[in-house]
Amino acid sequence: MMDRRSFIRGAGATAAAVLLPRLVRAQKGLVRYQLTARQTAHDFSSTGKNPASLWLYNETVPGPLLTAVKGDMLEVDFVNQLEEPTTIHWHGIRNLNEMDGVPELTQPAIQPGETFRYRFPLRDAGSFWYHAHNMAWQQVARGLYGPLIVRDDAADSPADIVIMADDWRLRDDFQLDEASFGSLHDWSHGGRLGNWLTVNGASQPDIEIPASGGVRLRLMNAANARVMRFQFSDKRAVTVLSVDGAPCDAFEVTSVSLGPAQRVDLFLDSQARLPEALYEISGGAPVLAARFVADDRITGMSKAPAVGSGWYLPPAAEQAKIIDIHMQGGAMGSLSSARFQGEERTLRDLAMQERKLWAFNGTVGGYDQILAELTLGESAMLRIWNDTAWQHAMHLHGQHFWVRSAEFGATERLLLRDTYLMAPGEKAELLFIADNPGLWLFHCHMLEHHAAGMGGVLAVS
Ligand code: C2O
Ligand code: CU
Repeated sequence: MMDRRSFIRGAGATAAAVLLPRLVRAQKGLVRYQLTARQTAHDFSSTGKNPASLWLYNETVPGPLLTAVKGDMLEVDFVNQLEEPTTIHWHGIRNLNEMDGVPELTQPAIQPGETFRYRFPLRDAGSFWYHAHNMAWQQVARGLYGPLIVRDDAADSPADIVIMADDWRLRDDFQLDEASFGSLHDWSHGGRLGNWLTVNGASQPDIEIPASGGVRLRLMNAANARVMRFQFSDKRAVTVLSVDGAPCDAFEVTSVSLGPAQRVDLFLDSQARLPEALYEISGGAPVLAARFVADDRITGMSKAPAVGSGWYLPPAAEQAKIIDIHMQGGAMGSLSSARFQGEERTLRDLAMQERKLWAFNGTVGGYDQILAELTLGESAMLRIWNDTAWQHAMHLHGQHFWVRSAEFGATERLLLRDTYLMAPGEKAELLFIADNPGLWLFHCHMLEHHAAGMGGVLAVS
């Protein structure tokens, strides 16, 4: 368990706004950005002493907010100024396979000093994010991530606010705890959990919201492994507008669960009164995440944005091709041996020699593990059994899936999403139309679990 006290910071808050990068609208429908990954000093303590050494995009944490409009072509010229290879994955985008950013699978890793141009059309409006996908368990934990918002129309509203949360594992001197990167204990248990909560890169920032009218809050969880739960200080009910970028039939919640990589858009009506703060309550005792400050220069939304019920209707389950996935491994699990590179080995040996701890259907996962081959346009169902003692945030690249989501209170809701948080022992059915050709990763977004074998590939052609 983390130390909840160290999640809380006493020092004064700093600016919360995600910095706007230079946006070049070169021609109609083409949006261009430049991103450079490099080592950057960042002061978590707000004292100016002992800045931590992070790896960031354009020297900001999170990386710059990228915005575009549905139907635009997004072009990102990326420069790798790190000392190790990297790639960028555009999480939640129903992307072209060659732009999906999975090293070894969809592109060669971008070497130090190299550049790469990502260029792809934006089919959907919604809340997405981008993050490093090479040794992500380390590169994301060092800060290589940022938000990507695709709007329905060009109108940008100051009442449309990104709240990107992360937990960092810091030492007492506010440096990143680097010694524990790759800890087998983390990899075999719940992943790397941090002890320092930030929202938009700052600890307990002030977030300006309109003094009256509605606000759209786009909550995102960029943590390696922590499942967060958010609640407003007055425990008010808010409306969920979309989940993992895809619009849903609106429903009300009084708290929001966010597994790693998940996003939820909320509509908050501040007409009557403003909430004072947002709390993170996963540990029981509420931890202050951010304060809200009313700003009467900002105009609120006069009504909630229109939503829909997902980008496409759920296909008929009876016709779907079934792909059974038995998830096994980790500490306190029943897996004693698994296949790795064609050889059956004990879990102990795999852990000590190969740092592998998790398996799908008895095989340690990797980019060479094809879980299924699907015909373009076919409906498919991933029938998953989490036969482990741990939660897992299961993410499918390239397409969203329909799932009976049990994360929002007593009622199960059929939602279209790209990451589903599974409880220990849970069985779930992820139903989708394989309408995007390519090799698509399916993996746990607890990034240590993925590195340790919890991932495979769906081939769609
Ligand atoms: Cu956001 Cu393969 O992940
Ligand atoms: Cu996992």
